Amino acid sequence: MIIGAGVEQVPAYEAAKRRGLLVVGTDMNPDAPGFELADYKILVSTRDAEATKKQAVKFHASRPVHGVMTIANDVPYTVASVAHAIGLPSISLEAARCVIDKLLMKERFKSHGVACPWFASVDNVEQLRSFVNDGSRRDFVLKPVDGRGARGVLLIDTSVDFDWVFAESRRWGDSGRLILEEFIPGMQLSTESYILDGKCYTPAIAERNYSRLEQFRPNIIEDGGTIPALLDTTTKKAIDNLILRGASALGITEGLIKGDIVIDNTGRPLIIELAARLSGGWFATHQIPAASGVSLVEAVILYSLGEVVSPLQLIPKYDRATAIRYWFPTEGKIKQITGEEKLKQIPGLLAYGFFRREGEMQPKIHMHPDRFGYVIVSGENRDEVLTRVKQALASIQVEVG
Ligand SMILES: Nc1ncnc2c1ncn2[C@@H]1O[C@H](COP(=O)(O)OP(=O)(O)O)[C@@H](O)[C@H]1O
Ligand SMILES: [Mg+2]
Repeated sequence: MIIGAGVEQVPAYEAAKRRGLLVVGTDMNPDAPGFELADYKILVSTRDAEATKKQAVKFHASRPVHGVMTIANDVPYTVASVAHAIGLPSISLEAARCVIDKLLMKERFKSHGVACPWFASVDNVEQLRSFVNDGSRRDFVLKPVDGRGARGVLLIDTSVDFDWVFAESRRWGDSGRLILEEFIPGMQLSTESYILDGKCYTPAIAERNYSRLEQFRPNIIEDGGTIPALLDTTTKKAIDNLILRGASALGITEGLIKGDIVIDNTGRPLIIELAARLSGGWFATHQIPAASGVSLVEAVILYSLGEVVSPLQLIPKYDRATAIRYWFPTEGKIKQITGEEKLKQIPGLLAYGFFRREGEMQPKIHMHPDRFGYVIVSGENRDEVLTRVKQALASIQVEVG
């Protein structure tokens, strides 16, 4: 059973079908593209854990389900609820609760001595103002405890309009609870690891590209990432160790862990957050396999079925490079998109996509889904992919009126 049948879940349906599995898909959208590959459909919101659980149990009564998973969909609680109701491999419900609540997660990190940025819960504007103005830290990040995709994640300092940032960040969470953290300047990393027999395997690490941080401030908008990140062996080991300890603090000792990591100015890695699911943004499905030959999607399918994952599957077969970048046209009605033929000629082109068509509105950028489109290239090394991705970006013109 794959929770979610949207475009980013399609690669999991494909991988499952390649293994000859029968697939049950769940999604509230009857036209979700994953359903075309599914053998059975369940129409239910992926965010509604209770309703999904009920329907899954009912389905299981007539046709046994042998595994449940998701990819690129921040619904670990739904996955864990289904797994626990049916008796399938999964993280615990308690761990699932921690990974969907940034405050609970950070409290676990703190009590287990796992390095993470200073944080505090903020219940009102006065509290926010006094933390930011107390002089002990310069920049902060305010975010909903239960947000995703950088929605309502705001980079702030003493100069902001506190009423506005408080209301704006709150708008994006379901619970209305907010967390304030110290903003850690430094190299930002995206990791995807698999924990097996007490060891953390991280086949590839991407350096997130934040060259547009000032342009979109206070929103924190990522403009893609590059594999490999420039890290020495000692730092890579420290990152694996940190992820292992961070996961263990949440009660996770096996399976997939996705990390948002930052390296501070002393060279020490800190965890911004961990997720217990395969990532989106074509990281697990395109970039990691192209750079390392490792398919974490396959590993998660095996895990969900209770089958053996071998360390050999998790060790890179080669060391290549990939880069993903996004287009950021100005806001307005999209008149014309040109250059697609030229884009298709770029060497190493792995994938690209536009989120909007001609005639549609390009919004102002507030969150990741507002970006216009993405392009991913692969190559032998960083220099090669950086050149290629620049060419790829330049080949497309989006005329906005
Ligand atoms: N304390 C922080 N220091 C530095 N960067 C941060 C901090 N908090 C968040 N960020 C940046 O903002 C991004 C989004 O924040 P995150 O907490 O991961 O929320 P989301 O659930 O939206 O992914 C992170 O990947 C990171 O790049
Ligand atoms: Mg994140």
